[in-house]
Amino acid sequence: MDALEAILTRKSIRRYTSEPVSDELIEKMLEAAMSAPSAANEQPWHFIIIKDRETLEHITRFHPFAKMLLQAQVAILVCGDLRLDRCDGYWVQDCSAASQNILIAANALGLGAVWTGIFPTEDRVVNMKKLLDIPDYVIPLCLIPVGYPVESKAPSNRFNEARVHNERW
Ligand SMILES: Cc1cc2nc3c(=O)[nH]c(=O)nc-3n(C[C@H](O)[C@H](O)[C@H](O)COP(=O)(O)O)c2cc1C
Repeated sequence: MDALEAILTRKSIRRYTSEPVSDELIEKMLEAAMSAPSAANEQPWHFIIIKDRETLEHITRFHPFAKMLLQAQVAILVCGDLRLDRCDGYWVQDCSAASQNILIAANALGLGAVWTGIFPTEDRVVNMKKLLDIPDYVIPLCLIPVGYPVESKAPSNRFNEARVHNERW
């Protein structure tokens, strides 16, 4: 699959088989994540790899839109390190670029994944930090459950000419 196809066919996948995702594939997704651009090349990200079933189940108790964790083989928590964010809040964009790369890489590797939002929902951030012993200066941005897809979804074509402005608004 080429890069454009991986982008255009990516969909949020929320149902997975019980086949484990190998450490090799997890590393490929992390490599893609860390290839993202970042403001002043600060790379203010950290990633927590969660496979433990009890932990995944615990998260569904405070995250109302993450029930797919019960089926996921692994979840990647993308976090921003405020100590490395010398660009005044750009960590959110940096870590979002890394997250999107994970989603695209998962699709290219034949896996299914979905972005589940953590930051800026205060109670999700607090609960996640407490559960995983995350230090004060690190903020979890999103959690990405991953597995081999059970469902297949047709690509969406969301190209919308009305949102494109030539030269001026
Ligand atoms: C910032 C953000 C937060 C999201 N949070 C959730 C979530 O908590 N749970 C979920 O199932 N999907 C979540 N999604 C996925 C969106 O629902 C999904 O991207 C959107 O419906 C478009 O569908 P598609 O990804 O299949 O194209 C989130 C996506 C983004 C970008």
